[in-house]
Amino acid sequence: MDVTPDSPTLDSSTATEPARSTTMDALIIRGGRRLSGRVEISGAKNAALPMMAATLLAPGVHTLRNVPLLSDTRTMARVLEVLGARVELRGHACKIDTSNLTSVEAPYDLVRTMRASIYVLGPLLARMGAARVSLPGGCAWGPRPVNLHLEGLAAMGAALELDHGYIVGREVRLAGADFTFETVSVGATAQLMMAATLAAGTTTLGNVAIEPDITALAVALNACGARIEGVGSRTLTIHGVKGLRPLDTTIIPDRIEGATFLAAAAVTGSSITLERCDSGHMGAAIRTLEQQGCEILAGNAEVTITGPRRPAAVDVTTEPFPGFPTDMQAQIMSVCAIADGVSVIRDTIYLDRFTHVPELVRLGADVRMDGNIATVTGVERLQGAPVMATDIRASAALVLAALVAEGETRISRIYHLDRGYESLDQKLLKLGASVERIQE
Ligand code: EPZ
Repeated sequence: MDVTPDSPTLDSSTATEPARSTTMDALIIRGGRRLSGRVEISGAKNAALPMMAATLLAPGVHTLRNVPLLSDTRTMARVLEVLGARVELRGHACKIDTSNLTSVEAPYDLVRTMRASIYVLGPLLARMGAARVSLPGGCAWGPRPVNLHLEGLAAMGAALELDHGYIVGREVRLAGADFTFETVSVGATAQLMMAATLAAGTTTLGNVAIEPDITALAVALNACGARIEGVGSRTLTIHGVKGLRPLDTTIIPDRIEGATFLAAAAVTGSSITLERCDSGHMGAAIRTLEQQGCEILAGNAEVTITGPRRPAAVDVTTEPFPGFPTDMQAQIMSVCAIADGVSVIRDTIYLDRFTHVPELVRLGADVRMDGNIATVTGVERLQGAPVMATDIRASAALVLAALVAEGETRISRIYHLDRGYESLDQKLLKLGASVERIQE
């Protein structure tokens, strides 16, 4: 049972703190409404989490702006506090003082609620020479290995051992190394890039992830005195330095939240405008939605979309950035569920990321699975029903389907949604959807 750890000091005077979900909150959505108006996209969860962990690299007061108010960013703040940092969230601005770290242990009860807690491992080894971080478990859809994190750190001289479920490093002095990822990994790229900034000597990382979250992290670290070359390419060369200045950065817009709202317009045949987003980070999703008949206009930090009367079918294969993101696989399936024709959706990143399928079928979708390939035969209409959220993006897919299903849909366990979307229900209400949050 996930619990939302008690949060860091929140200054309620400025923050319009989104509803804090208890474990059994639910959303009641009545489908059939068109959406209209403008929606502001929040900071990117997957850019904020490594950025928060990176504050461990340098003593001092770090400033992060446009931090999304999510269960996951609150959990990361909690992890940092357990390590001795002082974290202050004022609205979307976050001050993190890591001058006096008093522990190197990231406890299981926090790590199990959010795998990204493992991001503190590399920075702790780099700054403190020691770490004791719980090995993250799997997630709703299956195993989430961290072997690349551990192999990379070992290549940099960190002799890590597994001790009762914890990754333990002692008296570690990181040294530059050459390491090529056998699989493109967002998390392992962030982890090793952060560790290498303070390692003795030069590290070369091959076959790295180039998601905008990684580029943003590298740019922010270089602004603090790191020497990372090749940013945005598949090979990074990092010259270790003696120390870094505190971070002072603004989190980039969340491309997955943005693409989720584009999918909401597509599935409801609506016209809406996204504000404070970056269309350059959503290219693959935009191209796919255009194939489905959406008209999309990208402006300066804004994107306006007009959905079709009925989306066309489309084939999608997920790939590392700049390909179609696996974090949009569930959401595009909801659009395909009512499309005119048969769509084939293949997830090559996570072969079992399909826990949303049986729930979409409950809403009347026609989806047949064959391994990591979903064949979706579009139906004229979906019908509202009680369904259950299982992970962040599966929850979003159920919300999208409910927006167009006939009648009422009740989505339980929406704490999954609150992990990765800031006030999604409030934002949809403002766009004209019929959404109500209740406590079950
Ligand atoms: C990040 O997870 C994101 N999370 C995920 O978003 C996202 O789905 C994923 O990248 C892929 O884009 C955060 O950024 C916090 P990976 P991460 O390492 O880093 C395999 C969401 O909904 N792999 O890029 O854990 C792995 O099994 C979340 O916001 C190894 O084999 O993903 C997968 O097949 C869900 N060994 C592939 O690499 C490793 O050591 C890509 O995973 C690490 C990964």
